Amino acid sequence: MVTHPNTVQPDALSAPDQVILEVEDISKSFGGLRAVDHCSFSVRRGTITGLIGPNGAGKTTVFNAITGFIPPDTGRIMFRGEDISHLRPDQIFTRGLCRTFQIPREHGTMSVLENLMLVPMGQLGERVWNTLFRRGAVAREELQYRDKALEVLAYLQLTHVQDEYAANLSGGQKKLLEMGRMLMAEPELILLDEPAAGVNRTLLKNITSNIQTLAHERGITFLLIEHDMNMVMSLCDPVIVMSEGRKLVEGAPAEIRSNQAVLEAYLGGQYAAAER
Ligand SMILES: Nc1ncnc2c1ncn2[C@@H]1O[C@H](COP(=O)(O)OP(=O)(O)O)[C@@H](O)[C@H]1O
Ligand SMILES: [Mg+2]
Repeated sequence: MVTHPNTVQPDALSAPDQVILEVEDISKSFGGLRAVDHCSFSVRRGTITGLIGPNGAGKTTVFNAITGFIPPDTGRIMFRGEDISHLRPDQIFTRGLCRTFQIPREHGTMSVLENLMLVPMGQLGERVWNTLFRRGAVAREELQYRDKALEVLAYLQLTHVQDEYAANLSGGQKKLLEMGRMLMAEPELILLDEPAAGVNRTLLKNITSNIQTLAHERGITFLLIEHDMNMVMSLCDPVIVMSEGRKLVEGAPAEIRSNQAVLEAYLGGQYAAAER
């Protein structure tokens, strides 16, 4: 098996009860619509925490607030004890909090390998000073990125498509590529927005086992939005249920499955839409 390039974080593995992310009283309105309504929850280090709820419950908006894409109207977000509520997405990213989008955002006209190498290059290679005066350093670093990118691709079983244009990948492969782009950044917390949507069964297994390995062997924490209940119930613990912009309940998968309030939220909401 190919070893993952991220360094193991021993403190993450030995202190599973520590809170890594705290969402405190977040609200967000769009015009008259309150998409998120005083929502609070926390994510413990080393967990694969599920975030579920009917369509329109506000899950993606919460992700957007956590990652700096949409500033919340109220409340604050604490990541590793730091208030990140007013930081830009790139500042949050470099602190080790990464996310994927419901619709993958690959660079279609670049190869898969180039897509990965692009991630950390922004930190050294793009600076004019370095390009002009430190060519050697940039070239060395580029080689390192290449090695790391190849390692990430092998890890995700994407080596066979490394020279393909990203645009030519299947939906599931694009999701894996997005995960790969995050791994290049050595994240501590990964937010996944519907990783199973539009993914075939083989790739779904690949994605699921990657999440498990990264969580259990590398101590990376996951928060994932997913409509595929089989995936949520087998992968996530705890599961947080959102309804109408706030947290409804949180519990172990078995508790959530038999919870009456959860059932009613889905039935009362757009159950059919949520099942899509
Ligand atoms: N940028 C936006 N502008 C206007 N309304 C939005 C925007 N983003 C989300 N909404 C609305 O906010 C509500 C919550 O959306 P969302 O967070 O995407 O829910 P979920 O991901 O749980 O399905 C929905 O009613 C949605 O239409
Ligand atoms: Mg959504």
